[in-house]
Formats: sequence, C-alpha cells, structure tokens
Amino acid sequence: MTLPHTMQAVAITNPGAPEVLMSQAWPMPVCGPADVLIRVAAAGVNGPDLAQRRGHYDPPPGASPLPGLEVSGEIAAIGPDVDGWQIGDRVMALVNGGGYADFVAVPTGQVLPVPTGWTLTEAAGLPETWFTITQTLVLRAGLEPGMSVLVHGGAGGIGGAAIQIATILGARAIAVVSSPAKAAYATGLGAIATIDYTSEDVAARTIDLTGGAGVDRVLDIIGGAMTQANIEASARGGHIVQVSTLDGADAQISLRTIMAKQLTLSGSTLRPQTAATKASIASHIRTHLLPALAAPDFTKPAITSFPIDDAPGAHRAMEARTHLGKLVLVTPFGATQ
Ligand SMILES: NC(=O)c1ccc[n+]([C@@H]2O[C@H](COP(=O)([O-])OP(=O)(O)OC[C@H]3O[C@@H](n4cnc5c(N)ncnc54)[C@H](OP(=O)(O)O)[C@@H]3O)[C@@H](O)[C@H]2O)c1
Repeated sequence: MTLPHTMQAVAITNPGAPEVLMSQAWPMPVCGPADVLIRVAAAGVNGPDLAQRRGHYDPPPGASPLPGLEVSGEIAAIGPDVDGWQIGDRVMALVNGGGYADFVAVPTGQVLPVPTGWTLTEAAGLPETWFTITQTLVLRAGLEPGMSVLVHGGAGGIGGAAIQIATILGARAIAVVSSPAKAAYATGLGAIATIDYTSEDVAARTIDLTGGAGVDRVLDIIGGAMTQANIEASARGGHIVQVSTLDGADAQISLRTIMAKQLTLSGSTLRPQTAATKASIASHIRTHLLPALAAPDFTKPAITSFPIDDAPGAHRAMEARTHLGKLVLVTPFGATQ
C-alpha cells in the first residue's frame, strides 16, 4: 500500500477523565532502521493507559506521547536492518506507546506472529500482559511445573495471563476474584480453585487449599493490606511478584515472617525495560508459549471491543471493573478484517 502522510490517532488532549481522549489527525510515525511499521487493526487497553490519561504516568523519554502499549495488525513497512518479516505479515506487538493510532512503529524484537486461529482483535489483547507475566513470574520468579501460584485479579488481563501461563507451564493457579461470574471465568482459563476476596480470608483459604503448605508464588496487583495476606499465604521459599498496587502502594508487613519463611518480594514495571530485554522476553514467549496458544482447544481470553473513536468508553469500562479479560480498541482497518 502507499502510506499516507498523516493518520488518525487517539490523543490525550489534557490530563483528566476518559473524555480527554480524542481522535485527531497526527503525523505518521517514523519507522527506524531496526523497526517495523504496523498498520494497526486493534490496540489493547491497559492500566498504564488510564494512569497516563490521568496525568500520573509520563511516557519514558523517546516514546510516543500517544497512549497504547500493545497492538495487532499488518506490517506496512520494514526498516533496512530488519530480517524475518514481510510486508502484510499479521503480527501482534508490545509497543513503547502510540498504539491508539492507525499506524505505529515498533522495534522488531517486540513483534510476534499472530497465533494460528486467532483474529487480529483477539491477538491485540495478548502482548502487554503476556510479556509482563513472562518477565516477572516466569523468568524472574522461576515459576516451574508443579508449583502453586496465587493470582490476584484473576478475571482481569494480567491475572488471566498469569493463570493461563501457569497452566501451560504445568503449575497450579489459585485465582482471587470478587464474584461467582469472575470465579467461573478464571476457572475456565485453568485456575484449579478460586477465592472470593469479598467474602473469604485470602490467606487462610490459600493455606487450606494447599494442604497447609502455602503457595510457591504469588502474582499480586493489589498491594496495600493484601501484601501481608500474600506473606501469610506463601510457602517457605516462596516468591511474591508485585506488578501493581491497585489498593495502595504502602503496606504494613511482617519482616520477621519474610525472614522465617525465606521469602522473596520482587517488583517490576515492563515499559521502562530496554529493547534488548523486551526482545528476550518475546523470544521466550515465541518458543515456550506460542505453540500452546495455537492449540485448537486453547481457551482464548474474553475480549470486549470498542471502535477506536470510543476510547473513552473503553476506559470507563476498565474503571467500572466489570469486564472479563481484555478491552480492545478496533481501528477502521481492523473493522474490515
Ligand atoms: N508492572 C507492569 O509491568 C504492569 C504491566 C501491565 C499492567 N500492570 C498493572 O496491572 C494492573 C492490572 O492490570 P489488568 O490489565 O489486569 O487490569 P484489569 O483487566 O482491569 O484487571 C484488574 C482486576 O483486578 C481486580 N481488582 C481487585 N482490586 C482492584 C482494585 N482496587 N482496582 C481495580 N481492580 C481491582 C478487578 O476485579 P474486581 O474489582 O472485581 O476484583 C479486575 O478483575 C493495572 O494496575 C496495570 O496498570 C502492570
């Protein structure tokens, strides 16, 4: 295709409520020597997009000021240093910003093929959460077959990815949720048990479900008072992975219990990682996880899609906390696919 000189993109016109997201004409992104330019079919919506929209999360230096950290689409241009991709390839990618747009340029190491049997809309919701869980729970915390893992936010994007990746790797996920519908969804993704934090004691139930041992790993997005529950729920030698603090960044915890159980508490954010780190995570996903995603009996995460011009509606939906799985914005090109 002949590339246009401008494109439509959803910009943050001012920090604030979802209505500050507006579709505007925007310059085309520059495809660097080691980049591919993707014609975006769909862009996933993630918590960091909401934080950026509110003015609480500036893009890192050099990143697009447009929101959007993951996309699917077709390759529209290829930098001269790039091998292995062709114009028209159907891909999904972790991007450094700028996903809410008709086109986005992305370092080639962050690009993956769309799994066989997946639509572009379905694939748009994979990269951000699967890169995050691979980097933290798998590569850093060493999740292994046979381990047990407590997964908070089990019906959301990150929690769903943690359940599915744990299940693929032969670990046993216990999902923490807030309703029977969310429990059913997490079970459908592979969770072996669920805990409803609105009516059950998370630590006590976890100890019970693991025969008194506690869990080997915890994937937490809650923080605040849940941090001490995670410590109490952990087995000796356990590892708690912190990737968000939705209920508070400060916590009162028992350091003595951490010492006595020989626990590790680690934290990470994906976006500031180097291109080399992101490429090595992508390589791990391609080798160890993509084949499972392409299996005919794989349960795809639930997707709720919005036209990209209704990005405010998608942000309101995430803030309402009623969705299952992922929220995705579909471009006019994506609507034709
Ligand atoms: N560190 C990283 O690299 C990284 C990468 C990606 C995302 N994140 C962060 O991870 C968090 C989760 O992302 P996500 O995509 O999974 O979001 P999501 O799809 O909105 O899911 C969040 C889940 O957590 C539950 N939850 C429990 N307490 C909550 C609270 N106080 N506020 C909001 N939700 C709560 C929600 O269900 P109920 O309310 O029904 O329990 C929901 O199912 C976000 O803060 C995001 O920014 C971090």
